[in-house]
Parts: sequence; structure tokens; C-alpha cells
Amino acid sequence: MSAVDPLSVPAAAAGSALAPAREAFATRLGVLLATLGSAVGLGNIWKFPTLTGANGGAAFLCVYLLATFAVALPVMIAELAIGRRARADAVTSFERLAPDGSGRRWRWVGGAGVLAAVLLLAFYSEVAGWVFAYLADAVSGTALSTDAAANAARFGALSADPLRALGWQWLVLAGTALILACGVTRGIEAVTRRLMPVLFLLLALLAVRALLLPGAAEGLKFLFAPDFSKLTAGVVLTALGLAFFKLSLGIGAMVTYGSYFRADQDIPRTALRVMLADLSVSLLAGIAIFPAVFSFGVEPSAGPALVFMTLPAVFAQLPFGGLLLALFFALMAIAATGAMLSILEVPVAWLVQRGWPRPRAALLATLAVALPGVPAALSQGVLADATLFGRTAFELYDFASSGVLMPLVAIATALFVGRAWTRTQFADALGGTVGRPSRLAFALRVLLRWVAPVAIAVVLVRGWIG
Ligand code: PHE
Repeated sequence: MSAVDPLSVPAAAAGSALAPAREAFATRLGVLLATLGSAVGLGNIWKFPTLTGANGGAAFLCVYLLATFAVALPVMIAELAIGRRARADAVTSFERLAPDGSGRRWRWVGGAGVLAAVLLLAFYSEVAGWVFAYLADAVSGTALSTDAAANAARFGALSADPLRALGWQWLVLAGTALILACGVTRGIEAVTRRLMPVLFLLLALLAVRALLLPGAAEGLKFLFAPDFSKLTAGVVLTALGLAFFKLSLGIGAMVTYGSYFRADQDIPRTALRVMLADLSVSLLAGIAIFPAVFSFGVEPSAGPALVFMTLPAVFAQLPFGGLLLALFFALMAIAATGAMLSILEVPVAWLVQRGWPRPRAALLATLAVALPGVPAALSQGVLADATLFGRTAFELYDFASSGVLMPLVAIATALFVGRAWTRTQFADALGGTVGRPSRLAFALRVLLRWVAPVAIAVVLVRGWIG
């Protein structure tokens, strides 16, 4: 940050004299892998491949890329720039960088992000709990049945059993909290640095195995064959929503991670790399899943049905199926862990900024998630009929976070950076090789001022009218 930048926060102001120096990621690779760890999550495995296959294959990918470059990537860059510039949690970052006198208003954007993070994790952790439960089963060799109906019953038994559903959710949350309590460098960075390479290895292994199956071509056709006739307005909006969820936007996660970025990190380049690596993970996941599904003539499905019912049945028919299934759930578990670290870090960073010691902040944030997490965990069983506006707690949290708060926060973020900052301040905040007012900075600013807010608003309204 340069001295000419009036908005940049001097290092001394970033923490009180008594507070220890603020933590940050130590290496450039660490920054990249931690951010990638956030982007890669359950979305890559159960959302992306199925949505791509069902909505026009390569045609859908084109729209997804357009949505990413025109809207999601600029918003991701904006979030990271806000965090790095303020060197603070999501709430404080907006407050600090707002134009004179408007800090109190802008900090609500960060506050909405924290709330979105808590609600998102309240149900995301439940799904992650199922994944870990299946991993344990797969490792002990009990998760396999070639019969999809038997798998459905088995999944029902897990998700409807209050003790098991809650137990796994809490275990997963406790593990995430424990990593966060170790710190940014020794917790988040250390763990994601080790796990992300393993994730790629597992993915490559499973993809190659799937490609060797007899029906592989059919699966690849489902995934990639372009069908432009499927591109309706609804599909375009689906692609935009997916791009947002994939890049972890709208909950303050990228603001928080950006605050740990090194000063010499080139933000647009890092964001682009993360996006491309995340896309590769999604495509490889599709390649690992659909050839197998098609070679056994099973209907492709999405979400929990795909992961917990269809795939176990498919893998069970392969040689070494038990091992493959264990590897697959290990892959899912790693993906979910990196994402959950970044979600829980949003409230943790906020508490740490308020002077809480990190371990205690991690504990309190976890309790704040676990509490609303209870009805989410029980919504597949005892609370299945307890609905509000026709939605179970699980669905309600999903709607409140992905359908309302995340898009609103993203619009506000785009406007904040695109309009409240001057062009020079914006170019400065990007750092690295971008330098002073450049063509890239200009283009990004136009996208943030006009394209992103309008596009997200359209998705938001459409989500409301259904
Ligand atoms: N990107 C994650 C996934 O694909 C989800 C996520 C959303 C993580 C928002 C953090 C913030 O699963």
C-alpha cells in the first residue's frame, strides 16, 4: 500500500497497542491453497457436474465462464481487495474503508456477511457430517450395496437419526474449530497446504479410473456435449448463482481471507488462478462421477441422492469398489473441510478483532453455528414436518443465506468498491503487477459499478419469485 493512498490503514492502526500483531498467511502458495480450499467444496461435486450435464454441457460451461468473468470474479477481487486493504474482519473492513461518516452504515454489509456465514454453516456442516459418517463407514467397509434402494434406506437411517445426525455435525464443527483455534498460519494455512495436493491426487486417480470404464464415453457426452437449445434465461441465472457459490462470495469469507493476504500478492492473478483451479476440480469431479454412473446405466442425479445413494451403488459394482468409495468420500471430506474453515473463520475473525483470544473465539463461533444447526440436523427426521413458509430449517437457512443475504452482500460489495473508491485507490488495492490505473483496473471497475449489481439483482428477484 502506498503513502498516497488516504484509505490505506497504517500497520500500527490495524491493532491496538496491546493486541498481538495480526496474523496472516505466510507464503504465496499458502495464500493460494487456502483460498482454493475455500472455493473447492461440496459444490464442486454435487452441484457443478450435475448442473452442467443437465443444462447443456459445454453450452452451460460457456455461460458459466461468462458469468464468472463478468460478475463473480470481479466481486471476488473486490472482496479480497477490501480485506487486504483494511486488514480486518468483514465488519470492521467495511467500516474502516467507507467514505467519511458512512462507516456505521457500511459495516452492516459485513454484519450481514457474518450472519450469512453462520446460517450457511448451520446446514453445510450437516451435509459435511453425512460425508464424514460415510467416510467412516466406507473405511470400515460397510457402506457398499449395489442396490440403490438399500442405499437410500441407509442414508435415511443416518439423516433421520437425531443422535447420529447431531453427533456427526458437532464432530465436524469441533474439528473445524480446532483447526481455526491453531491460528491462520498454523491452522488454516498448514492444513490446506497439506490437504489440497491430496485432493488433486485423489481426484486424478478417480477420474482416470472412471475413464477406463466401458461406458466412459457416454458419461463424457452427458457432461460435455454442447446443447445450446437448453440455454434459457433460467439456466443463465443458475450459472450465475453457481459461480457465486463456487467462489465463496457474499459471506465475508473472501474479505476475511484477503485480510490475511501478503502485501505483495497480486489479487486479480490469485483470484484467476483460484477460479481456474476450482473449475478444474469441478470438471475432474464430473469426469470421475459420470462415466461410472453411465457405465452402469444409472440415471444421473444431484445432491445427496447422487453422493449418498447412486454413487455407492455404482462403486459397489467395480473391482476394489470399497477402496474407491473410501477415496471418494475422503475427497469430499477434504473439500468440505477447506470450505468450512473459511466459513467459520468469518465470525471467528470478527470476535478476534473484538479482542477475544482465538481459541475462545473459535469456541463461541462454533456454538453460534451449532445452535441453529440443531433444527437443520433434525430436519430430515423428527423435525421434517416443522416448516416455516413451506421450508424446513435446513431449506430455510439455505434460502436465507444463498437466496437472500449472499446476493445482497455481493451487490453492496460491488457498489462499495466500484463507486465509493476512486480509480486510483482501486488500482492500488489490487496490488502486484496491476499497478496504477490500468486497463484491467478500468474494466473491473466498470463491471463492479454496473454489470455485477444489475446481474445479481436479477438473480435475487428471480429467486424470490421462484
Ligand atoms: N465454495 C464452497 C463450495 O463450493 C461453498 C462456500 C460458499 C464456501 C460460501 C464459503 C463461502 O462448496
